[in-house]
Amino acid sequence: MNPTGDVALEWIDRELADLDRQGLRRRLQTREGPQAARVVLDGRELVNFGSNDYLGLAADPRLAAAAAEAAQRDGWGSGASPLVTGHAAAHQQLQQRLAEFEGTEAALLFTSGFAANAGTIAAVVGPGDVVYSDRKNHASLWDGCRLSRADVRVYPHGDWRQLETLLADSPKYRRRLIVTDSLFSMDGDLAPLVELADLAERYDAMLMVDEAHATGVFGQRGRGVAEQLGVEDRVSIRVGTLSKALGSVGGFVAGSRTLIEWLVNRARPYIFSTASPAAIAAAAVAALDIVRDEPQRRTALLARAQELRNTLRGAGWNVGASAGQIIPVIVGEPARAATFSHALRERGLFVPAIRPPTVPEGEACLRISLTAGHSEEMIAMLVAALGQRTLQPVILGRNSNSSCER
Ligand SMILES: Cc1ncc(COP(=O)(O)O)c(C=O)c1O
Repeated sequence: MNPTGDVALEWIDRELADLDRQGLRRRLQTREGPQAARVVLDGRELVNFGSNDYLGLAADPRLAAAAAEAAQRDGWGSGASPLVTGHAAAHQQLQQRLAEFEGTEAALLFTSGFAANAGTIAAVVGPGDVVYSDRKNHASLWDGCRLSRADVRVYPHGDWRQLETLLADSPKYRRRLIVTDSLFSMDGDLAPLVELADLAERYDAMLMVDEAHATGVFGQRGRGVAEQLGVEDRVSIRVGTLSKALGSVGGFVAGSRTLIEWLVNRARPYIFSTASPAAIAAAAVAALDIVRDEPQRRTALLARAQELRNTLRGAGWNVGASAGQIIPVIVGEPARAATFSHALRERGLFVPAIRPPTVPEGEACLRISLTAGHSEEMIAMLVAALGQRTLQPVILGRNSNSSCER
């Protein structure tokens, strides 16, 4: 019997033991104090390469002040779903600011990026339709595909030529949707958005791009990879999050008024879930001001990421096709990634090991996530630790070991 005394759940103990054996068991650790480049995790201070706080805004006092002021004014809880009485003036203001920021007619706020992705896909396609999804798309996009009950066709990561082959029989469907991350969350590489936009036009498909990791970081105004590659107007459905570079929590869809109106009527996580507190929206507006007024945060971040990638490649590490602030060090087996992460932790550095099912089998990695808050010294510490001879027998397969190569 397991400790809860519930015989019906005993299978869970067996499954967890199995995860342990495979080196795949995940465990919560507790952070004390703010999310920042230096954090206290389970009581130990570490340099933090494991957040998505790319612009260093999560603990920015301007966001906290905006949230506190809104909470004093409007109270904390929103008390209802948006369509009932949960949609406050602060949410409305944020939606207007998001539309301005994205240069679209309208925007709609969800309680998370996960809800935005899953709810939007299920709202725009259904039985009789087809979705084409990159193999490495985020879990929320996958779940949206499943929820939609549309046919799902998976194309190999970034392989638009293969996608074109799959699109050949797309005319038989009522509606077609191509969906992709823009900056992939684990590999840190970019989707071929120009080619995807060409294919979407040629095959009369909607193109949906999830900019979760690129919002605030890529593009001249920080709108994302579609802005950077000049295809914004060719993307029918743009998704972003407030949860990463914008230092808050929540997700949004930006697009035409018609699209947003449809989502208000059909996106189930929007309709059937309580609105986030108005204070969260106020913090996000403050973050948008910073993204507009302090472009150097994103330009410096991307320049540093480029430097770090070059250094790691020069030292023989496999960083894949990373092109932004997310830099995977691909080591192959899950146990190896875990050992690696542990060894770095011993040296005061938190770099999470990313293992299946988050990444495919054989692609376990250390996911280095750079933020505007990292100092030169912190990055130098990481580079030095990765180069240390004492670590090499434990963690290095590097160029000499094919299991480290993808
Ligand atoms: C690519 C991608 N899309 C969406 C999400 C979900 O966003 P949120 O954390 O706001 O739910 C994530 C989160 O990790 C992500 O990596």
